[in-house]
Amino acid sequence: MTRFDHDYYQRFYGQQGVHAPEQIAHLATAVHELSAWWGVEIRSLLDVGAGVGMWRDWYRIHHPAVHTLSVDISEHACATWGHQLRDITTWRPVRTYDLVVCHSVLQYVDDDALESAAANLAAATAFVLYMELPTASDLLHVVDSERTDMEVFARSGATYRALFGRWFQQVGAGLWVKNGTVPMFELEVLAP
Ligand SMILES: C[S@@+](CC[C@H](N)C(=O)[O-])C[C@H]1O[C@@H](n2cnc3c(N)ncnc32)[C@H](O)[C@@H]1O
Repeated sequence: MTRFDHDYYQRFYGQQGVHAPEQIAHLATAVHELSAWWGVEIRSLLDVGAGVGMWRDWYRIHHPAVHTLSVDISEHACATWGHQLRDITTWRPVRTYDLVVCHSVLQYVDDDALESAAANLAAATAFVLYMELPTASDLLHVVDSERTDMEVFARSGATYRALFGRWFQQVGAGLWVKNGTVPMFELEVLAP
């Protein structure tokens, strides 16, 4: 796939990029600590569509004992930032990971492959999934179109909620907890 090449990462992860390691540090700290609050000790991380590898790098620096695996469909990203070359629409890991991160990836997956990507993410997740992506509404009303790739699949939030709701409870702020793993209080999760 040539779309995710040197120019793509320069455009969206350069000076005016969508997010930077300092911002990911806040987010990763919050996700790690909230998981601990729920009684989930993160001992393994799978970063799907890792790009420049900010999540993987944060874990390696701040929690070096955590086993990390980062994967991406881009040959350029894999060669430059050290990921395994994988397409989440067709690849399912042989083991599960305590935390799976899929940050700004699924908007690139077409409608036909979305269900298999979601099923593979669910199969990969032992406890917690962090997932972020722009929905159709976000693309219209929220994102900065100068700094965001707008050439993506625009789907409703309801589409993602219905799909991921098969395997997860949506907690909010991008967090989803695998069904049957962490008992959540009623008001900790979003109503299905
Ligand atoms: C917007 S970047 C996000 C990078 C990183 N997750 C972040 O948030 O900084 C999207 C990434 O998803 C990867 N990607 C797109 N489709 C993919 C797929 N089917 N399987 C794995 N990676 C994919 C691209 O190669 C690219 O690196």
